[in-house]
Amino acid sequence: MDALDSTERERISKVAELLINSKNAVVLTGAGISTESGIPDFRGESGIWEKYKPEIYGSIQSFLKDPSKFWKMAEDIAPNLFNAKPNPGHLAIAALEKMNIIKAVITQNVDELHHKAGSIIVYEVHGNINRFTCLGCRASYNKEQLLRKIKKEKNLPPVCDYCAAPLKPSVVLFGENLPNFEKYMSIDLAKKSDVMLIAGSSLTVAPICDLPLNTLSEGGKLIIINDEPTYLDERAEIVINQKTGTVLPLIVEEIKKIKAKYESKTQN
Ligand code: APR
Repeated sequence: MDALDSTERERISKVAELLINSKNAVVLTGAGISTESGIPDFRGESGIWEKYKPEIYGSIQSFLKDPSKFWKMAEDIAPNLFNAKPNPGHLAIAALEKMNIIKAVITQNVDELHHKAGSIIVYEVHGNINRFTCLGCRASYNKEQLLRKIKKEKNLPPVCDYCAAPLKPSVVLFGENLPNFEKYMSIDLAKKSDVMLIAGSSLTVAPICDLPLNTLSEGGKLIIINDEPTYLDERAEIVINQKTGTVLPLIVEEIKKIKAKYESKTQN
């Protein structure tokens, strides 16, 4: 575990105090929270977009022109994505929801690791990898059906059993709109949140990178846990540039300590 210095430990205590006294805290996560589960992020040092140009492999325009490019990238990263397990960062966020410290998780990730960690109220603003839709007749396939198809047919892109059009995973590509319900729910939650904890995001992709501005505009506070700076650091109440898998469990531990102290005081 990365050794934290005394300043970082003080900041963790401050985060715990802020969260314990919050009324409507929410968490916003990005790919950085899943790197410790073996899933590469997009813009970190060994990010996916270092290897695959997003304008060729990650946009809806390029997908419609030639879906096999996207599927070649998917073939490379899917095993990590499908077999990944939640890490202590995901588990800590699920614990914060169980302790009723946070109301919801808004995630840009499609890996479903928050669900696997036990989080219940999760808004996947960039979709997820558990459904695959036919671009022709809108037929829909789940992960198991897709994997069986790829194993049997071998060719890419996987095509629809009914109309032979290519299949597309239910993730949001560049140039696509976000799912309306998750998008508007996230904006509403951000506006109502008195504390937004941002974990593992470079905050560089709109519209989600602007979500924390809704919290700030309503007088809410930001906590940013990221291993590199973001554009909102100087407007955040607390910034901790350390691994989410290290910091988030320490925040949960600190909250439990404060709660125990408070409970023992009220009992005496
Ligand atoms: N702990 C803390 N921070 C981390 C860790 C970690 N273990 N691992 C990586 N990071 C940081 C990286 O330094 C980077 O700043 O997390 C951030 C991840 O940023 P991105 O790779 O840009 O991911 P994200 O912010 O989620 O990207 C948003 O862009 O390409 C699209 O749809 C894609 O949802 C994605 C969106």
